[in-house]
Amino acid sequence: MRLDYLIAHTIGLSRKQAKKAIVDGQITIEGMSKIKSNTQIQAEHSVYFNGLKISMPHPRYYMLHKPAEYICSTQDPHHESVLTLFDYDDSLDLHIVGRLDLDSTGLLLLTNDGQWSHKITSPKKQCCKIYQVHLADPITSQAILQLQTGIQLKGETKATLPATVEVIDPYTLQISITEGRYHQVKRMLVAVDNHVQSLHRVQIGKIKLDSELSIGQYRPLTEEEINSIR
Ligand code: URA
Repeated sequence: MRLDYLIAHTIGLSRKQAKKAIVDGQITIEGMSKIKSNTQIQAEHSVYFNGLKISMPHPRYYMLHKPAEYICSTQDPHHESVLTLFDYDDSLDLHIVGRLDLDSTGLLLLTNDGQWSHKITSPKKQCCKIYQVHLADPITSQAILQLQTGIQLKGETKATLPATVEVIDPYTLQISITEGRYHQVKRMLVAVDNHVQSLHRVQIGKIKLDSELSIGQYRPLTEEEINSIR
C-alpha cells in the first residue's frame, strides 16, 4: 500500500497531514527519510514515525463473485470498479489479483498482501486458472488439439503453454491455463476460428468460486484457501 495511506490509517492523520509528515522527514523507512508519499510499502518494511515503529495492517484476502460490466481497475470513467462492491473501508488498500475483462464473470481474488498475490500472478509459478467458456460455434477436435498443444497468438512470439480442455457440450468448455496473457482465453479461441460468447472463472489454484456467493458478493478467504497458494 502507499506510504501516505499507511501513515494516515495507522497514526490517525488526514492524508494531507500524512504527506506533510513524510515531507518533514518524520517518517523513516529502513533508516531513510527522503521518501515519496506514493512509495509502495510491503509487510516486511520497517516504517518509523518520529522513531516509533508503525505496525503494519493485517493482511486481508477476499474472493468476489464478479458481475459483468464491472471493471478491474479504478481508472475507467465509464464503468464502475469492482472495488465499489466492497465496503469503502475494506476496499482502500486492496488490489486485484489477476484481472477479468469487463464482460467476464466469476472468481476474483483481492488482497492487500503483495507477496501473496505475486505467487498467483508470477509467470514462474504457472498458477492454474480455470474458466467455463461458452462458444459461438461448436468446438472441433482439431481446435481442442491446438488448445492442448499451444497456440501462436497474433502479435506474440511465444506459443501459449498447453491448456487442459474439458468438453462439457459442443458449445461449452472448461479450460484451464497456467498463464495470464492479455485477453488470453478469448484470443486462443479466435486463433482456432471460434469466438467466446461468455467467460466465467471458476477456480484459481485450489481456490474455487464459492457457490454460496451470489453475483456481486464477496467473502474473506479461509486460512486453508490462503495457505493453498504457495
Ligand atoms: N481470458 C480472457 O480472455 N478474458 C478474461 O477475462 C480472462 C481470461
